[in-house]
Amino acid sequence: MKSDFGERVKRAAASIPAGFKPETAVILGSGLSGIVEGLGYREIPFGEIAEFPKPTVQGHKGVLCLSGKNAIMAGRFHYYEGHPMDDVVLPIFALKALGVKNLILTNAAGAVNESYAPGDLVLIRDHLNLMGTNAFIGPNPADSDGKPFGPRFFDMSSVYDQGLRAVAASKAKRPLKEGVYAALTGPAYETPAEIRMVRAIGGDLVGMSTVPEATAARYLGMRVLGISCVTNMAAGISSAPLDHAEVVEVGKRVESELKALVMDLLSALA
Ligand code: HPA
Repeated sequence: MKSDFGERVKRAAASIPAGFKPETAVILGSGLSGIVEGLGYREIPFGEIAEFPKPTVQGHKGVLCLSGKNAIMAGRFHYYEGHPMDDVVLPIFALKALGVKNLILTNAAGAVNESYAPGDLVLIRDHLNLMGTNAFIGPNPADSDGKPFGPRFFDMSSVYDQGLRAVAASKAKRPLKEGVYAALTGPAYETPAEIRMVRAIGGDLVGMSTVPEATAARYLGMRVLGISCVTNMAAGISSAPLDHAEVVEVGKRVESELKALVMDLLSALA
C-alpha cells in the first residue's frame, strides 16, 4: 500500500456522519444492491465519503447505508474498473475504524462446480487469489501515529469464519452449498480453458471481487462470511456465451432470498 494510506483511511472514516457504531457490515455485489431499498437506513452516497472513488459499473448503487449496529455498502470498488488495490480495500479499513467486527461479503459468481445451478446461494469456504497481485504489497499500512494496522505477514488459514457459516446455514430457507471462490481480475469473463484450470486447482466458483476485501478483513482481525450468488454456469460448461445482463437478471431473481438471509444474519449478530 502507499504510504499515505493511513491518512486516507482516517479522512474517509472522519467524513462518515458521527453517531454510527456499526459492528457488522455487508457488501453487496453486482445486481444485489436492491437489498437496501426501503430499509430506512441512513444512506450516504460514496461521493460524499472522503477518499472513496466513484463506482463505474452498472448495477452498483454506490451508497453506504447505516442503522444501529449495521452497515451495508451497496456497491464496491473492483480492480477491473482500474481502481488501485488501495482503493479496493479502503472501505474495509474505514469500516474497521467505525468499529466493524463482522464482514459479510456477497458477490455474483459463475459456477465451476457442475452441481451448482444459477440462482444458488453458496457459502464461501475458502478462496484462490488468481488476481496476480495482493493489496498488501508495499509498505505495511500504518495509522497517522505510525502504528501498523496489522501484521506484515498474516494468517490466511481460516479466512471464512466457520461459526458465521453455521449461523448462515441455520438461517437459510434452503440448504446452502459451500465452495471455494476463485478470483480473477476480469473484466473479460474466463475462457473455457481457464475454467478447466480453476476446477483442476480446486475452485468451485469464479468471480472478480471479494478476495481483496476478505484479505483486508482478515488482516484487520474481522470475522468474514462470504456468500456467492450463482448467476451463470462458468464459461464452457454450457454452450451459451456469458452476458452481463444475465448476471444482473439472475442477481435480481435471488435478491429477495438473499435479502431475507442477510437481514436474519444481521439480527442474529446484533
Ligand atoms: N466469471 C467471472 N465473474 C462472474 C461470473 C463469471 O462467470 N459470473 C458473475 N461474475
